[in-house]
Amino acid sequence: MAMQDPTIATAAPVIELRHVGKVFRTADHTDRAVLEGVDLTLREGEIVAMLGKSGSGKSTLLRIMAGLVAADRGEVRFRGQQLTGAAQGIAMVFQSFALFPWLSVQQNVELGLEAQGVGKSERARRAEAAIDMIGLSGFNSALPRELSGGMRQRVGIARALVTEPDLLLMDEAFSALDVLTGETLRDEMLELWETGRANIRSILIVSHNIEEAVMMADRIVILSSDPGRVRAEVRVPFARPRNRDDVQVRALIDEVYALMTSPAAMGPRVPAMAAAEQIGYRLPDADISQMEAILDLLLEAPFEGRADLPHLAGEAGLTDDELLPACEALQLLQLATLEGGDITATALGRTYYAAEAGERKALFGKQLLDRVALAAHIHRELAASEDGEVGEEQILRELEAFLKPDEAERVLTVAIAWGRYGEVYAYQYNRGMLTLPEADSETPRDGQDG
Ligand SMILES: Nc1ncnc2c1ncn2[C@@H]1O[C@H](COP(=O)(O)OP(=O)(O)OP(=O)(O)O)[C@@H](O)[C@H]1O
Ligand SMILES: [Mg+2]
Repeated sequence: MAMQDPTIATAAPVIELRHVGKVFRTADHTDRAVLEGVDLTLREGEIVAMLGKSGSGKSTLLRIMAGLVAADRGEVRFRGQQLTGAAQGIAMVFQSFALFPWLSVQQNVELGLEAQGVGKSERARRAEAAIDMIGLSGFNSALPRELSGGMRQRVGIARALVTEPDLLLMDEAFSALDVLTGETLRDEMLELWETGRANIRSILIVSHNIEEAVMMADRIVILSSDPGRVRAEVRVPFARPRNRDDVQVRALIDEVYALMTSPAAMGPRVPAMAAAEQIGYRLPDADISQMEAILDLLLEAPFEGRADLPHLAGEAGLTDDELLPACEALQLLQLATLEGGDITATALGRTYYAAEAGERKALFGKQLLDRVALAAHIHRELAASEDGEVGEEQILRELEAFLKPDEAERVLTVAIAWGRYGEVYAYQYNRGMLTLPEADSETPRDGQDG
């Protein structure tokens, strides 16, 4: 593969972050550092991709870079000037399309310029050009609901491009789209970038997709969690367009997987095998059937107990944001270990693999109580309660001492799904009640277990 232009490293900075920190206050008024000591520079001519677990602070960092949120510490300089608020020259594209449903494509795109006080006729002309550039000509008067998801995202991109930004920030801009649509749009963005037609100086892409990062970026930064800081940086030294099947590209994808699953990237509280010893631990969004499918695949030929993650992702037909949480969950429950971008089944994982469905549940439940503090906590509370039930509201309030409300809800949802599967507790969703599982409860309950 051809190597890319080496002069980027010395090009003029577009945006510079120095020791940027951000603290959010949780429900019980304790402060939690979401970002800490983030140093990051984007230079003219480069695309940088940012990877990091859910909740590591990627969107927060992007909002700080866009001037939408102020940093609590450190400094952000855009084109040499201290950034104090939303600045002309910076545009952002979000995952959700954020279009106004009652405005036409043309009007939605023009909005980007209205804020800058551009006159009516110039607005119309520039919006048309942007719509044309992103392949939507002919749809100017269409309403968002008349468009497919891919086309709506094109409108979102056109709205950013119309301002001719120096810096384009993309927050998972392709992840709400189906795979093919996402790839097409991604390739077209790269083409716009390569031809210089959009006149953008630098792009930052936040992604959950490791391959996407390697295919697009000149450099990949990986954020750690709790607090988020730049944990690792990888140069991608290949000219675009890149071939995902190229040996060197594959090797680099492997390397990024390894970094993403290293204990350091997973945050300070997860040294390789430690338990989620705090109830506020952010349980990964792992689906149990996917966890089991991965374990089954892992223990069968050709892997026989050890696999390279990208290879396994391909075999399992899972995306990175399904595979990585599922692997993290397997590690949490001690069914597998992650190291150097490989996943290896443990002895317990082998036992689990060989077990019947009922034994699997029992083993799952036992590991859950052992390894996941939140599940153990719920179980203890139930055992201590008079009537064998605890309201989910109580647990949510406890979690909110550590987590933002929606994150608390997400974590509790995961804990409920896992606990029900492992028969550690049951859940009556119509009453929002956690209960002891049937076998454990002394008095029979009125059979409305959800
Ligand atoms: N306004 C806020 N108030 C309190 N906490 C917040 C606020 N915004 C974000 N957080 C918290 O900051 C952390 C980082 O959130 P952020 O959305 O930046 O993460 P992310 O890396 O973008 O995650 P994802 O990959 O899921 O999009 C999360 O724990 C979130 O709950
Ligand atoms: Mg985000």
